Parts: sequence; C-alpha cells; structure tokens
Amino acid sequence: MAPTQDALYRRIDLELSWSERELPERDRTKHVHRLHPYLGKFIPQLVEALLARHVPRGRVLDPFAGSGTTLVQALESGLDACGADVAAFNCLLMRVKTREYNPFVLESELRDACSRLEAFDGVRPEGDVPRFVRDWYAPRAAAELVFFRDVVSDYDHADVLRVVLARAARSARRTTHFDLDFPRTPQRTPYWCHKHRRECRPVAEARRFLRRYSLDTLRRIREFSRVRARGRRADVLHGDARELDFGGRFDGVVTSPPYPGLIDYHEQHRYAYELLGLEEWRELELGKGTSRAGLAAYIEGIAAVLANVRGSLRRGAPVVIVINDRRDLYPEILERAGLRLEERYRRHVNRRTGRRSGEFFEDVLVAR
Ligand SMILES: C[S@@+](CC[C@H](N)C(=O)[O-])C[C@H]1O[C@@H](n2cnc3c(N)ncnc32)[C@H](O)[C@@H]1O
Repeated sequence: MAPTQDALYRRIDLELSWSERELPERDRTKHVHRLHPYLGKFIPQLVEALLARHVPRGRVLDPFAGSGTTLVQALESGLDACGADVAAFNCLLMRVKTREYNPFVLESELRDACSRLEAFDGVRPEGDVPRFVRDWYAPRAAAELVFFRDVVSDYDHADVLRVVLARAARSARRTTHFDLDFPRTPQRTPYWCHKHRRECRPVAEARRFLRRYSLDTLRRIREFSRVRARGRRADVLHGDARELDFGGRFDGVVTSPPYPGLIDYHEQHRYAYELLGLEEWRELELGKGTSRAGLAAYIEGIAAVLANVRGSLRRGAPVVIVINDRRDLYPEILERAGLRLEERYRRHVNRRTGRRSGEFFEDVLVAR
C-alpha cells in the first residue's frame, strides 16, 4: 500500500540524525570543507549518505551548490559532479576546493607569497586602499590585505591565494568576536565580549591570519587529495540556475536551495567582493524577502530552476532536496516543476554553532 502524505511527512530518519558525539565538528568540517566559512551549508556526511542511497554512481548535479559540499563529497564518493551558483565568490571557493594540484608548486607559491608579506613594512598610501577596506580594517591590517591582494596574480595558484586572502579578511575585520556573520558597523574600540567573557579588542593586523590560513589551506588541500577518487571531476558554473545549460546528462540531483528571508548569500562574503573586485549578481539571488510577492517570486524561481534541471536528467533520475520547508512551499514548487514527490523524510539537525543553538529539523524530499 502506498504511504499516506502524513506518513511521508512525519518519518524521522535516525540514520541521518547524528548527535554531536557521533559527528563532532572536526569531522563535519574535514579537509577542504573548512577552507572558508560559509553560512548555510549542509554537512558532507549527509551528502555522503544521500549519494549512497539515491545516486550511487555516475554524475550528480547541484544547481544551488554554494560552498560546494555536494561536489567535494561526490569526488570523495567516486562520482563526477557539476555545481552551479549565482554568487561569484561561491564559485571561486568551489573551484579551489575541487581542482587537482601539484602539491609542490602549491606549497612553494604559498610560502613565497607569505615571505613577501613578511618583508612588507605594513604601510600603504591611503589612496591605494578602497573605501570599504579603510572603514572595516585597522590601517595596518588594511595595508597588509591590499599588499597580499596585489601579489596574488603573480602566481599560478592565484585563486587559492584569493581564498586565503578572503578568509583572512573575514577574521581581520573590525568586528566583535560574537558577530562575525553579519556585522553592521565597524567596532573600533575595546568591547565586552560575550563569547570570551572578557574585554576584547578589534584586530589590528592581518598578517598572522594570512600566514596561518596559507598553511591551513595547504594542509587541507593535501588531506583531500589523499581521499578523493582518481579520475573524477567537478565542473563549476557561475550563473542563474533558471537559465544555465548544465552540460550533459546527470544521474541525480542533490541540493539544498536557499529559503525565503534566511541568508543573504552575497552579503555574507561582502569583504571578499570588495577586496577581490568580484562581480555581484544580487538581483538574481533567489529567496530574498518574505512578503507575499517575495514568496510568490520564490516559488516561481525555485520551480523554474527545477524545471530547467529536469531537462538535464537521465530518465527516472532522482531529485533530492534538503530543506526546512516551514512555510510548506515545496508541494506547489514540485508540482510547478513537473516533479512528483516520492518520499519525504525528516532529520534532526544538531546545531551547536555560535549562538544559533536549539532544536531544528530539516526534510529530505525525493522527487522524480
Ligand atoms: C542553501 S545554499 C547551498 C549551500 C550548499 N548546499 C553547501 O553546502 O554549501 C543556496 C545557494 O543557492 C545560491 N543561489 C541563490 N539563487 C540562485 C540562482 N538563481 N541560481 C543559482 N544559485 C543560486 C546561493 O548563492 C547559495 O549559495
């Protein structure tokens, strides 16, 4: 007998509901998954389990690929992958995570850039420093970031250095330690820190972050190169998933779409766009706003992406969507996209990051 809708909605999948002890943070952020902070990613172990269940071989597509969790895990699980995202920084990050490297060349370039930074006197004419950088960084930190930015293009692995630069730029901002995600105004004076329970000072320099993250990046890329399957590749496409041609046929989709009003995916990496001069396509980002018109645009937009994706799937290939659909928008979205919900299970999400703790569930929708 076919399961009722209610049964489809209520099943909690204990196999996908890990506790902190079963799945500690260092495992959730293993190797390249922690090359750069990204708010709103799913965990690699979830992708691993979903691939094993629904797309055990072939080529997987993620039209909302974000920081590239699906792509990285696909490479580890022995699949080819393609990921698309509308945000340029996310695409840069995904390319850096999934590319294959000559580790000797990479190490020598990272070390060379760091030793040039060591020799830099930390002073830069004010006119060389963009406005955003002047506002959000102490003068020395600003000068070091701009110096590093200007040397990266001398190297073959410039994109790896750009990700190191962005990560250091995030850490070196004049913010409080407890508001790193979306700080509104620069913090220029010492402050009472809720996180460390003492008085803290805004960061004065960027050099130590650049050095530390260069070495950490090298270590993480090496670690990933030891576990990724031989001969598998990941393609990264920058664009609007409603219109992109994903190239070829896929054996399944594993994705987590944006959700209305939750995260601004361009804004969370504002410092990277400002420093690296990346192109911004904010108006194409789905999930902005929760007004009636905003929700209608969201339904239409996600349905258009899924309809577009359908055209690139092999016959019968599953579309696996991870979402906390508290507004119950997905039945309509799937119908509009011409997909049929086959299975729906719920997992308990253990969120022990920062101040966003508490009970949280998300659903896995399997449609065809
Ligand atoms: C929930 S996040 C995906 C996170 C990803 N699963 C991970 O683990 O990193 C949703 C992503 O959809 C992207 N996005 C929003 N609108 C888009 C569009 N029109 N086309 C392609 N990507 C879009 C956002 O930039 C964001 O990175």
